[in-house]
Amino acid sequence: MSKGFLVSLEGPEGAGKTSVLEALIPVLEDRGVEVLTTREPGGVLIGEKIREVILDPSHTEMDPKTELLLYIASRRQHLVEKVLPALAAGKLVIMDRFIDSSVAYQGFGRGLDIDAIDWLNQFATDGLKPDLTLYFDIEVEEGLARIAANSNREVNRLDMEGLDLHRKVRQGYLSLIEREGNRIEKIDASLPLDQVIENTQQLLFDRMGLRR
Ligand code: TYD
Repeated sequence: MSKGFLVSLEGPEGAGKTSVLEALIPVLEDRGVEVLTTREPGGVLIGEKIREVILDPSHTEMDPKTELLLYIASRRQHLVEKVLPALAAGKLVIMDRFIDSSVAYQGFGRGLDIDAIDWLNQFATDGLKPDLTLYFDIEVEEGLARIAANSNREVNRLDMEGLDLHRKVRQGYLSLIEREGNRIEKIDASLPLDQVIENTQQLLFDRMGLRR
């Protein structure tokens, strides 16, 4: 069975990773790459239902461990139903958020035990890690200002958290790069969108061995 290539996109709020992804899909398809794009939490029916529970702005009582376990449950279902079959079919799978979001948000952000999160991620994925993770880095204030300026975007429970949580999340991502620098590439998301798209494309093509 051929094995595809798994890419995850990560970053704090407002880094623009979803806009970059939308721009890259046609470029990849033009090159004949079979690509599946998907998101966490969600991506499949059960995952989307779990997403609604996690992100509902009225669910202010949610305990951090409950939040973590729901993300992990959504991850497992999404992986089994959607990601693994696409990889087995040899596709490029690009996931908008994956294992590192749990470490950055629930670990560094909420203060839950990182070793426990690593274990839960490993349990949910049977140890599968992305071939490449693109981390879109932006100052917390700038990212949140972008979200505030974009009135079309749904505001979810995590967006409503204070600056302090978002600062810890960004620090978490920066620590993850120190831990797993071979897998995670940092992209400066404060640059103009065109430039960010160009830089992302270069990195992705290089890592996949595609000519530009
Ligand atoms: P989403 O609207 O998809 O945000 P974004 O456009 O920033 O990706 O909402 C997903 C939210 O869930 C986002 O705030 C990050 C958070 N999250 C976690 O806290 N832990 C996780 O494991 C995942 C996958 C996401």
